[in-house]
Amino acid sequence: MAYEFKDDDVICSCTGITKQKLLSVIKAEGIDTLEQVREKTRVNVACGMCVYIVEKLLTEG
Ligand code: FES
Repeated sequence: MAYEFKDDDVICSCTGITKQKLLSVIKAEGIDTLEQVREKTRVNVACGMCVYIVEKLLTEG
């Protein structure tokens, strides 16, 4: 079974952003692409390792 991220889990260690924080920015800014996430939050800009979870949050919330 896949690990389910909790609201206060850091999903991008390069920026330290949590799942809850990223989801709130995605909702507030009307973000629906990975490029917009990068531009607005700097998440997934440094090492890129968080791409899988960021894409999952974009499609599944
Ligand atoms: S963990 Fe997100 S850019 Fe490095």
